[in-house]
Amino acid sequence: MAKILVTGGAGYIGSITATHLVARGHEVTVADDLSRGHRHNVPPERLRVVRLQDTAELATLLSGVDAVVHFAAYIAVGESAREPELYFSNNVGGTLSLFTAMAKNGVRRLVFSSTAAVYGNPQTIPIPDDAPFDPVSPYGETKAAIERMLRQLDQFRGLRSIALRYFNACGAEPWAGLGEEHEPETHLIPLLFRAIKTGEPIKIFGDDYPTPDGTCIRDYIHVSDLAEAHVAALDHLMSGGCSGAFNVGTGSGHSVLAVMHAVERITGKKVPFTIAPRREGDAAELVADSTRLRAALQWEPRRSDLVTIIRDAWDFFNR
Ligand code: UFG
Repeated sequence: MAKILVTGGAGYIGSITATHLVARGHEVTVADDLSRGHRHNVPPERLRVVRLQDTAELATLLSGVDAVVHFAAYIAVGESAREPELYFSNNVGGTLSLFTAMAKNGVRRLVFSSTAAVYGNPQTIPIPDDAPFDPVSPYGETKAAIERMLRQLDQFRGLRSIALRYFNACGAEPWAGLGEEHEPETHLIPLLFRAIKTGEPIKIFGDDYPTPDGTCIRDYIHVSDLAEAHVAALDHLMSGGCSGAFNVGTGSGHSVLAVMHAVERITGKKVPFTIAPRREGDAAELVADSTRLRAALQWEPRRSDLVTIIRDAWDFFNR
């Protein structure tokens, strides 16, 4: 049992990971400013409402903590292109404040929420974890910058960290009442459900990509499997393991149309859609090579087939 601080634990992936950590017997405190997360995602006794930039307050919360799992960040690629300073300040500035507070308290273990967006438009598919960083959005740049800081902090502060580069997080934990509630929502699966519910067609962003059906291919990873990757990363660090950075995906890609047809099969409802121009910044295909994560942390995706993903997300959507 360890004492863990989860930043951003009122958000989608953070709240579900916090639930998994509690189920393993860890003592979990959530730090979240609720600017994007939801109060209802965290039991009140576990929640501390605090801004990441408030180093002094964070330092108080870090007293006696064994490890930090750091999710707190803004995540919208499009918004980051419109407001890069906001992203640098919140994601990089906030994280620097967290690292300062951790150093003050001698906290030397961190699991960090990174992203496939650090690679930009990669040359090799599936993407190996040693592919070069070439982010094409300020959002991706913030995560790449933090990963670079972590390499220096490993050397000069003895901070051991695991960065997990998520591919397309999706699905839900309906039994825990937790799932995706972004506002505004930009992600494919909840928007497909919204189109069913409202009758308002979803825009499919481009059908002229160099892929078999012309739509973009992504590696969809169930949020429950993502949460388990954090649990495994934490176990590794708690038992004295070294720092690392890993892709978290399945190694299999699905096109936008394939996901839409799966949604139609599983829900039994037609999805109204229109074909729209490409969305700026979308790569044709992003699929993870996660073999290093599987070998290093003995992690395996268990619920990341499209049927389980869509069934869980649909149950949560209709809760
Ligand atoms: N899509 C549509 N219509 C929509 C929404 C999405 O066609 O209304 C398409 C997108 O163009 C893309 C696919 O569905 O081809 C998936 O889009 P998402 O917005 O759900 O996810 P992304 O792959 O764009 O982004 C995800 C994460 C980001 C992360 C990125 C890493 O949400 O946080 O992967 O590459 F940065």
